[in-house]
Amino acid sequence: TTFLTASTRLANRHLLVTAGGTREPLDPVRYIGNRSSGKMGVAIVKAALAAGAKVTLIAGSVQVALPIHPRLTVQRVTTTAEMLAAAQAAFPTVDAVVMAAAVADFRPATISDQKIKKQAGQEAFTVQLVKNPDILATLGAKKTTQVIMGFAAETNDLLAHAKEKLAKKHADYIVANDVSQAGSGFGVATDQVTILTPDQAPQAWPLLTKQEVGHRLVALLAARLAK
Ligand code: CTP
Ligand code: CA
Repeated sequence: TTFLTASTRLANRHLLVTAGGTREPLDPVRYIGNRSSGKMGVAIVKAALAAGAKVTLIAGSVQVALPIHPRLTVQRVTTTAEMLAAAQAAFPTVDAVVMAAAVADFRPATISDQKIKKQAGQEAFTVQLVKNPDILATLGAKKTTQVIMGFAAETNDLLAHAKEKLAKKHADYIVANDVSQAGSGFGVATDQVTILTPDQAPQAWPLLTKQEVGHRLVALLAARLAK
């Protein structure tokens, strides 16, 4: 935190961060989920707290310890619908949103209230999925003064896909991550990200620890909010 200067401080600013994966139930004992650890989101929370911000963390399924801090409020959620509701409730009072959660794109069309049983002789099982709301795009469409940062995890055509997400979701920043690269993405401690923002050329950052990426992203937001 030694590099914090006046322009990277976030005192009296309120950040909303989402982290971890959402889970969509199929029945009382099963869900559809993803491998998100929540590391990146938690790194951003820690960096924001170190910069003096008040932070609201909406956490789905995470595999890392969540920080405890007097300026941090944590809200736990399971499904995408719950994460959307919590994010919409917090949105009007925050200065910036960092959407680091791995949100399930689809959920089972119906949730059985009893455990789904195998039928005698059944050799296949089909689950119908329906599209989930896009939390980032929903907030992006409603933003007034909030600065919105989203992520893009891609295995191919990184910049094209990330650029499309920047525009479609009305984001101010997209942090693009090529998850097909060995040092980046799920489960690893490092990321090589590229930052996209409207009207600027994409900026590729070197391979950094997720915590260092978190500090730099928070510094970006702080500089933007100081303008
Ligand atoms: N996101 C969201 N709500 C969703 C899906 C994604 O808020 N239902 C957010 C993620 O938190 C992330 C950004 O949108 O900040 C991009 O997520 P990503 O999965 O890379 O993109 P999608 O728009 O879902 O497109 P696809 O998975 O098809 O690449
Ligand atoms: Ca997705």
